[in-house]
Amino acid sequence: MNVSLTEKTAKTLRIEQRIGELVGEMTVAEKIGQMNQVCLVDHAVPEDARVALRSGRIGSVLNVVNVEIVNELQRIAVEESRLGIPLLIGRDVIHGFQTVMPIPLGQAATWNPTLLKEGARFSAQEAAASGVNWTFAPMIDISRDPRWGRIAESFGEDPHLTSELGVAMVRGFQGDDLSTRGSIAACAKHFAGYGDCESGRDYATTNIPENELRNVHLRPFRATVDAGVATIMASFSDLNGIPATASEFLMRQVLRDEWQFDGFVVSDFDSISQLCVHGLTENDKDAALQAVTAGIDMEMAGACYTEHLESLIDEGRVDIGVVDELVGNILRVKFRLGLFEDPYTNPSDFPSKPNADAMRAAKTAALQSVVMLKNDHDVLPLSCGNLRSIAVIGPLADAPYEQLGTWIFDGDPALSITCLQGVHDMVGDAVDVRFVRAMDTSRSRDTASFDEAVRAAQETDLSILFLGEESILTGEAHSRADIDLPGAQVELIRRIRKAGKKVIVVILAGRPLTLTNIVDEVDAILYAWHPGTMGGTAIAELLFGIESPSGKLPATMPRMVGQIPIYYNQKNTGKPPRPHELVFIDDIAEQAPQTSFGMFAFHLDAGFSPLFPFGYGLSYAKFEYKNIRTSIHEVEIGDKLTVSAELTNNGEVGAVEVAQLYVRDLVASVTRPVRELKGFKRVYVESGQTITVEFELQTSDLAFYGRDYKLVTEPGEFRVWIGGSSYADLQSEFQVIARQRGA
Ligand code: NOJ
Repeated sequence: MNVSLTEKTAKTLRIEQRIGELVGEMTVAEKIGQMNQVCLVDHAVPEDARVALRSGRIGSVLNVVNVEIVNELQRIAVEESRLGIPLLIGRDVIHGFQTVMPIPLGQAATWNPTLLKEGARFSAQEAAASGVNWTFAPMIDISRDPRWGRIAESFGEDPHLTSELGVAMVRGFQGDDLSTRGSIAACAKHFAGYGDCESGRDYATTNIPENELRNVHLRPFRATVDAGVATIMASFSDLNGIPATASEFLMRQVLRDEWQFDGFVVSDFDSISQLCVHGLTENDKDAALQAVTAGIDMEMAGACYTEHLESLIDEGRVDIGVVDELVGNILRVKFRLGLFEDPYTNPSDFPSKPNADAMRAAKTAALQSVVMLKNDHDVLPLSCGNLRSIAVIGPLADAPYEQLGTWIFDGDPALSITCLQGVHDMVGDAVDVRFVRAMDTSRSRDTASFDEAVRAAQETDLSILFLGEESILTGEAHSRADIDLPGAQVELIRRIRKAGKKVIVVILAGRPLTLTNIVDEVDAILYAWHPGTMGGTAIAELLFGIESPSGKLPATMPRMVGQIPIYYNQKNTGKPPRPHELVFIDDIAEQAPQTSFGMFAFHLDAGFSPLFPFGYGLSYAKFEYKNIRTSIHEVEIGDKLTVSAELTNNGEVGAVEVAQLYVRDLVASVTRPVRELKGFKRVYVESGQTITVEFELQTSDLAFYGRDYKLVTEPGEFRVWIGGSSYADLQSEFQVIARQRGA
């Protein structure tokens, strides 16, 4: 055993011993206190909170980020309570603190775990300087529904991408050691299935069969647990008839028994009491009973535990041993954070704000997050040398707050570089920039300023339209049923188009929007999500070719809402559509007989394919994949193989490509997806250069949850693809064979 492992084990044992000793000294009221998280104000410590802290009846506080108040809270807890247990200070640090990174969905479009880790690290440091020691991130809910407002907070539709990025964020927040300065506890949320809410309505019911739950939705959670995430948040939602907050299956069987998770689980905001609203329990006391029995260690912002747990114990309905176990889980995280050694925060120990390094990371993340969806006749990149004037048009061109996106409690819009500013900074005096906002908000239907916008488009060399949706159109409880560009934006595009000049559209949005009604009206589309503080600089650098776009879609973009849920890793069905096929209702022969012969799974009015598939994104380079090969044709279970392909850049500029590896298990004991992402790599390829991209595949990467919901790798034929999107067509095959007996 090496030294660091020995040290780690010794530290773990010490912590377990301290937990045992501390729990042994605690009264029942103090134990329940540790399980209580309260929401306090940021400017003062109210008298009732002081009293509760002194008597050990609060274990955690959320939403206080004034460092003086945080230190005062810690002082009361540590110096004035009997046992001096420090507090967890929680905050939603979702995609940045003061410096705002792109929304998580935008960060996912970078396909760059290193960047996410770095961004989370800066966010952790900025938050820690305010006394925060626990963030409620990352959100790793799989979402296949762009109507859902919280898709903005997710990493999209794919379990592998979400797992890799979720783990990277956890590592960024928590560092190598939770007790080091600037490390904060992460929280993987929302366990589980929240992203599958019916019709994308936030908080709505989810019904997910166990096969799907384990093979898709639970995978990222398993990955973050294996990576040592400190905490998990239960979902608000009802999963298969039992709200997650009361689910023994999720919290006990899966999380603790199967995965051996040893951190703690927090409820969502008041979600224990909401068990009554769900109709699962008659009153808060029963709700407390069900939540504690399921294994919800801490209650966020509710009073079910504080008001009812003690009598439940007295009545013998809750075993004190169960409470001790739950309290121990919370204390374990506090010990790991080093809070008992040093609960206070000295802001001067941290980089000053705003932090130039964090801003640089935010810019890089924004640069890599932008997905180029269209670039007809290479209209992009622009060149200052060829332009005399440009029109900058649209409600999101100069919107410092909106570009930050959802969940930015502590983000500072004053730091934002807007798109207009970015363009100005880029062109200086060389190009005349005419700005017309045209619409007050993206939702506006007032077209009064459109004439002015059209004039600007006529009188300049080309137009760049900054369109999309404001941050308030996404996020918690902000789902949309219609995900076209809102307001009169489509009309604005059509009017500008008529000016007869090139039209470039940059979309700032918190979800994949349906762009079918504008895609043919414009020359180029850059999809920039809500790009955060440095969005304007990044977008300008892409527009003017300082960098090539390298983002790839982390979620499928549907043609129309009726296609949802639409995702690349679907099942084949018994009547699969022909690839990429579109059949529109106008083409259907009149009086066609109703028959199941020769028919396949598609919509009469939308066909089968999405507008843009998962993994898609263009570049200023021209990439071509050739010569896929596997290192061996037969691999024994337990072994590995490599899959490689040649990647050539036939374009005129060097650029980064995200090479993607997909696999299909052709025949299995349960039906398997038509493709599954198994690997991805960001690679830089010079103009004219050919490189080999290589992926290692372990047979364990091919494992899935089978008929008995146990993980299994089955022998058989597998197909592999390497390419630049989930539509990659360069394919090969290999065989997985059972290990020889005795081998
Ligand atoms: C409710 C949200 O669902 C959760 O994600 C968030 O962390 C908490 N509120 C705390 O703000």
